[in-house]
Amino acid sequence: MTLQQPALLTIIVGCAMLIASCSTSPQGGPRRSKQAFGSVDGNDVSIYTLRNKNGMEARITNYGGIVVSLMVPDRSGKLADVVLGYDSLSPYLTQTSYFGALVGRVANRIGHARFALEGKEYVLAANDGPNHLHGGLRGFNRAVWEVDESTPPSEPTLVLSYLSKDGEEGYPGTLRVKVVYSLSDSNDLRIDYTATTDKPTVLNLTHHSYFNLAGQGVGDILNETVMINADRFTPIDSLLIPTGEIRPVQETPMDFRTPHKVGDRINEKDDQLRLGRGYDHNWVLNRSGDGLSFAARVSEPTSGRIMEVWTTEPAIQLYTGNFLDGKSIGKGGVAYKYRTGLCLETQHFPDSPNRPEFPSCILRPGETFTSSTIYRFSAQ
Ligand code: BGC
Repeated sequence: MTLQQPALLTIIVGCAMLIASCSTSPQGGPRRSKQAFGSVDGNDVSIYTLRNKNGMEARITNYGGIVVSLMVPDRSGKLADVVLGYDSLSPYLTQTSYFGALVGRVANRIGHARFALEGKEYVLAANDGPNHLHGGLRGFNRAVWEVDESTPPSEPTLVLSYLSKDGEEGYPGTLRVKVVYSLSDSNDLRIDYTATTDKPTVLNLTHHSYFNLAGQGVGDILNETVMINADRFTPIDSLLIPTGEIRPVQETPMDFRTPHKVGDRINEKDDQLRLGRGYDHNWVLNRSGDGLSFAARVSEPTSGRIMEVWTTEPAIQLYTGNFLDGKSIGKGGVAYKYRTGLCLETQHFPDSPNRPEFPSCILRPGETFTSSTIYRFSAQ
């Protein structure tokens, strides 16, 4: 059968319209676009905007893989930016809060800034008192990540990679890390991590957005309700290093198996809350199998926004912004005061390199590390 010219034209136009509608946001623009954001050590840095069909928008820079803003609808469809951060690049270069960043090579703390692996001791930067925090002085949050520009702009996906050299920040082995951010039409911001190494090393990757579901700059997070799918947590010492004990949450202010407002118990006279200056702890997730499993849920009563966290990781850190003190001036000139954002960092347990009894964070040559986390947004 041969097609008549008008019929052929109709098919071609139809296909073109279909491709265009799949590749554009409701506003008609592409699902991923790029803007200059400045430069670091002579390397250009950009912001990539990912959009979905509901108008949700994530702006992510390849400096530190930082989520700079995240526009999320409330129950009436009104968008607000739900993460803390800065309007320009320069404050990100010196910040110590890790706003929005990808954190590695080992997120969270390593006690006494040292660990042994296969009989050899490695000494790391002590950048948190005597301890090592979030990968050291120049962790992955301060790296300029390479962007795979070949991914079609019709996809709301950002593919970042980073080569961490052998000995960088004291860690052994050259590590190739790839992180893929993607935004789905069901309002999932998904992060997929993979890594390989040429020598045995340790690895714990996480994402460090401070969420405020009422909108960044709109008060504190004490009225947000949190649920964490964990029967146990790892108690800390005065320097926030796990003692090694794995303690049931039952009958403690750490019990978020049913939803509780962050502020309900945060000021109770409890030893762990005193040591953490609030919540700054690691919960051992209840999980079965290796796949994505439900970890936590946050809901905010005035906007109706809800965020669920799903992960393949064994644990999650809830940090309630206890070190924010109003000195950092963020987006729109807002001073980020005490407890105005909360982090839910999916991860391996803190100090894992020194704790053989914790799930292992060792990566060996020939293995591929994989990890996925979804921040899923809805409103009610
Ligand atoms: C830690 C906090 C720390 C913060 C850095 C969080 O992941 O748990 O103790 O102060 O990161 O800003």
